[in-house]
Amino acid sequence: MAKFSCFIGSNKVLNTSMNTTTERNQKPNLDSLSDNVHIWLISFKKLVSDYHDFYAMLSPDEIERAHQFRFAKDRNAFVITRGALRKLISHYLSIQAIDISFRYTEYDKPVLRTPENNTIQFNVSHSGDYGLIAISRCSPLGIDIEEMKTDLDLMEMAQQVFSGSEYQQLIQLPEAKRIQAFYNGWTRKEAYIKGDGKGLSIPLKSFNVSLVDKEQPILLATAHDEQACDHWSIYNINTPENYAGALAIKSKKCQIKLFIYQ
Ligand SMILES: CC(C)(COP(=O)(O)OP(=O)(O)OC[C@H]1O[C@@H](n2cnc3c(N)ncnc32)[C@H](O)[C@@H]1OP(=O)(O)O)[C@@H](O)C(=O)NCCC(=O)NCCS
Repeated sequence: MAKFSCFIGSNKVLNTSMNTTTERNQKPNLDSLSDNVHIWLISFKKLVSDYHDFYAMLSPDEIERAHQFRFAKDRNAFVITRGALRKLISHYLSIQAIDISFRYTEYDKPVLRTPENNTIQFNVSHSGDYGLIAISRCSPLGIDIEEMKTDLDLMEMAQQVFSGSEYQQLIQLPEAKRIQAFYNGWTRKEAYIKGDGKGLSIPLKSFNVSLVDKEQPILLATAHDEQACDHWSIYNINTPENYAGALAIKSKKCQIKLFIYQ
């Protein structure tokens, strides 16, 4: 079963290249969380041997859901991410993984049931071979990881989901930079709607994020909630090659630590 973490960096360096200082075998705990956000990178390939242990932790409704996936790859991603989430929360809150109970908001965002639900906030994302789990003490947050596919008509997709000014930003970039910029935009937008919790009921064209890779990502304007830019921050997450990742958090100051779940 998982031995937990290998610390690989913090947000001081997340926007450019990742600091690779390594602290092995850090166990998650509530004290170390304090004002931090902990982000856990999960490799489905590396954790496939733990599948049955993760499966054994699931609740009856989660097992039912696991069996509804048509493709084994999607089932694996769900079971491993949900199992790892249970395992992590069990360490943060010093409770048994099997005793954790989730409920779902009207927009399907999973949250902890009482009495623990005021203690930590979390959000998960999965794509391709990887998942991300973000955990904070009390700031609402959303996370997104996307495998960067090159065989899609990105400009056509951008026209459907990006605002007019985001689309203009994208089209003005040299072609070689567009794929990264598109996925920066996609993950930043997705992280924000997941952090807010209303998901796709927030029109994707109703707010703008920055797209460029090197600058600090920002929420630039939001038509659906004029205050949002004052409260939310967006960060790049250093993901494996060919993946993009972003975190959105309702906080103006936080320290992000990225760990590998192993
Ligand atoms: C469900 C949605 C919130 C994210 O979907 P997604 O990107 O396909 O999937 P991700 O892996 O990033 O996230 C899924 C996880 O988000 C969580 N989630 C579900 N609804 C959520 C909500 N309303 N708010 C926050 N998190 C939510 C769940 O934990 C889910 O994982 P689980 O089912 O294994 O528990 C929704 O935004 C969606 O369907 N998006 C479609 C993609 C799209 O059009 N994006 C355009 C971006 S520009």
